[in-house]
Amino acid sequence: MATSKGANEPHLELTHRPRRLRMNPLLRAMVEETRLDARDFVYPMFICEGRRVKAEVPSMPGVHRQSVDMALKEIEGALKLGVRSVILFGIPDKKDAAGSEAYSQKGIIQRGVAAAKKAFGQDLLVVTDVCLCEYTDHGHCAPVRGGEILNDWGVALHCRTAVSHAAAGADVVAPSDMMDGRVGAIRVALDEAGFENIPIMAYSAKYASAFYGPFRDAADSAPQFGDRRSYQMDPPNAEEALREVALDVDEGADIVMVKPALPYLDVIRRVRDAFSLPVAAYNVSGEYAMIKAAARLGWLDHDRAMMESLTAIKRAGASIILTYFAKEAAKILNR
Ligand code: PBG
Repeated sequence: MATSKGANEPHLELTHRPRRLRMNPLLRAMVEETRLDARDFVYPMFICEGRRVKAEVPSMPGVHRQSVDMALKEIEGALKLGVRSVILFGIPDKKDAAGSEAYSQKGIIQRGVAAAKKAFGQDLLVVTDVCLCEYTDHGHCAPVRGGEILNDWGVALHCRTAVSHAAAGADVVAPSDMMDGRVGAIRVALDEAGFENIPIMAYSAKYASAFYGPFRDAADSAPQFGDRRSYQMDPPNAEEALREVALDVDEGADIVMVKPALPYLDVIRRVRDAFSLPVAAYNVSGEYAMIKAAARLGWLDHDRAMMESLTAIKRAGASIILTYFAKEAAKILNR
């Protein structure tokens, strides 16, 4: 440790030396303000048709499109690591203008949810993403007529989708479409169908972000014309995020989400301060891909960058983190 002081060595008369709390690793751990826990994580998974299918998404190393049988194996592994929750995205074989596979009783998600709940029951919390864009041939989150995105039609179909997910056994439904009025309408639809105890995790402040790029490769859900700027939020806006969250809270959201996470830490913090509901944040595909790519190039330390990012999201105020890193981060937390 410290060598003995020489006669002419400088010495400051300091009352406060914040470094005192940083020298001993045990003390450092004791004064840690933010602690990640595997229970914070929701692990996103992409479910496709078939059996024994497992294909890595090129822009998301470690993330796969997989059939239900393979997904169950991966969930089993995740549970062993302490990751208790998944959010499922469906990749249907057939797409059409109305996204009918999204609310078909025999849809890929409906079957995947039922299989997961049958296999793991109360040990696993199954969240479902409620959105049409993976199921429509035009790739938008609502039906389209003459180039116009039809809000109220979209809401009607998201209600059917949410109810079908709950009927299949979903524990939480998460509408990600950003159509106006969907949270309230889904609440009513769930209640009427007898699912008054199924919570809604609303993608409340969801931005029109470039960071969804790899997800759209994975889910094959890029819009075939135009973009999502008429429904997802404009990145410069934060006041508007508070307004979107307030509307969802009024409409009955149980958990509110900010998405993406890292470029919007300020929004997470403001939502956390302004509302008393649990706040979730989605550490999206592009945030994942950036760390994977830089680590592959040897440009940064993968595990440290991952843990620092997740810690930052929690420190900003999100108590729930949707992240493709869930399993890898849990492994480190278990050490
Ligand atoms: C569906 C949806 C998207 C994501 C989650 N749900 C894509 C989008 O809005 O284009 C993105 C998740 C990610 O990038 O990891 N609407």
